[in-house]
Amino acid sequence: MPAWNPAELVEIAADLATRVGDVIRRLRAEGVDVAATKSSVNDVVTAADREAERLLTAELRELRPDDGILGEEGADIAGTTGITWVVDPIDGTVNYLYGIPAYAVSVAATVSDGGPGTMEDGRRAIAGAVYLPATDELYTATAGGGARLNGQLLAGPQDTELATALLGTGFGYTVERRTEQTEVVRQLIPRVRDIRRIGSAAADLCFLAAGRLDAYYERGLNPWDYAAGALIARESGAVLLGRGTAGAAPAGTSMLIAAAPALAAAVQRELELAYSSAG
Ligand code: IPD
Repeated sequence: MPAWNPAELVEIAADLATRVGDVIRRLRAEGVDVAATKSSVNDVVTAADREAERLLTAELRELRPDDGILGEEGADIAGTTGITWVVDPIDGTVNYLYGIPAYAVSVAATVSDGGPGTMEDGRRAIAGAVYLPATDELYTATAGGGARLNGQLLAGPQDTELATALLGTGFGYTVERRTEQTEVVRQLIPRVRDIRRIGSAAADLCFLAAGRLDAYYERGLNPWDYAAGALIARESGAVLLGRGTAGAAPAGTSMLIAAAPALAAAVQRELELAYSSAG
C-alpha cells in the first residue's frame, strides 16, 4: 500500500491554496508592482509571488517536513516520502498585476511512480487544488476521486466537433516562442469556434473541467503551471495528450492538450500540422 492518502493531501492543498489566496488578494488591494523580471521583460514577479511562495513553503515544511517542494519562485527541496509538492504561488501573474481576476494559487501533491497520468516531467499529481481568490472558486481533485468546484462534482468538457470548439491557449514569454505560437493560432482560428487567452494555465485547465472551454493546449508550460490543473482536468473526464509524433513524450512542457477524447485527438492532429509548418 502506498504511504500516501490523497484525501488527506487534498485537504492540505485546498486549505493552503485558500489561505495563501486570501493573502494575495489582500496584498493586491494594498497595491502591486513588478519586483523583478525573469526569462524576459514580460515575465514578471511581484512581491506577492515571493511572499505567497514563502508562506506555502513554510506551511508545508511545518505540516509535511519530509516531503519535497518545487515552486515557481525557486523552492526546490528534496524529500524522503516520495511526495513532492509542486506549487505556483500566483499563476497568471500578469493578470494579477493588472487586476484581471483570472489569477490562481496552485498546489499539487505529486509522486513519480509511473502510474496513470504521469506527465512529461515524470510526476503525476495525486491530489491538487487551484484557488481563484478574485472569484472565490476552489477547484480540487484526487486521483481516481473526481474533480470538484467548491465541493460540487464537475462533469468535464463536452466532446464537440473541432469546428464548434472553444479553445483556450497561452503564450510563453520569449519572442521566439511567441512567434511560433502566434503562427499556430493563425492556422487554427479559422477552423474552430473561437480562441481564448485567459492568462493562467491553471485557470484554463480548471475552466475546461467546468465546461467553460472545450479544449486547451499550450507549449512551454512549467510543471507548477499545470500540476494541479492537469489532475483537475483529467479527473473531470478530459484526456491529456502531448505531441502526436511517433515516440513523442506524454503531456507536459513540450505540449499539453486537454479535452474530451475525440476532440483532444482532433486538436492534436491540427497542432501537428500547424507546428510542422510553423517550424
Ligand atoms: C503563465 C500563465 C500563462 C501561460 C504561461 C505561464 P505565470 O504562468 O499560466 O497563462 O500562458 O505559459 O507561464 O507566469 O503567470 O505563473
